[in-house]
Amino acid sequence: MHIHRFEKVWLALALVFILGLISSIVYGAVGPGIEMIDAEGGTVDPQNLDETEFADPGVEQVGENEYEVYVVAKQFSFDPGTPANGVIRVPANSEVTFYVTSSDVVHGFEVVGTNLNTMAIPGQVSKMTVEFGDPATYGIVCNEYCGAAHHAMEGRIVVVP
Ligand code: CUA
Repeated sequence: MHIHRFEKVWLALALVFILGLISSIVYGAVGPGIEMIDAEGGTVDPQNLDETEFADPGVEQVGENEYEVYVVAKQFSFDPGTPANGVIRVPANSEVTFYVTSSDVVHGFEVVGTNLNTMAIPGQVSKMTVEFGDPATYGIVCNEYCGAAHHAMEGRIVVVP
């Protein structure tokens, strides 16, 4: 097939534009002070979280400036996140990978005022890597109806200096 040179240029420009759009979605700003780096996931046995990486959920330092946070959503709290379970504390200017799952029904994990937002689904792991900037406090809410106390299911991320 013969493609005119002029058309080739436009095809190339269109491709660059599309790739730009995709990368702006993957690497775009999540909200004030947060940048999205990566988002994917995996599976886990919701009946046996005790035998998985979610056995002892919490914040773990995995590099000089890198942290992993394992969060279990359950009726009606985030562990960690909800103050009774301990809020999520990460340092300013750190790269943080969240692994979120549920031990019962479908929940939401939405960081208020940002696009850091995922469903917490039993059997599935939602993975998101973001970069936190300046010290701040972010609220976490459950945005999927999950039962009587759904409206009270919330937590906090504190980005400390
Ligand atoms: Cu959990 Cu709504």
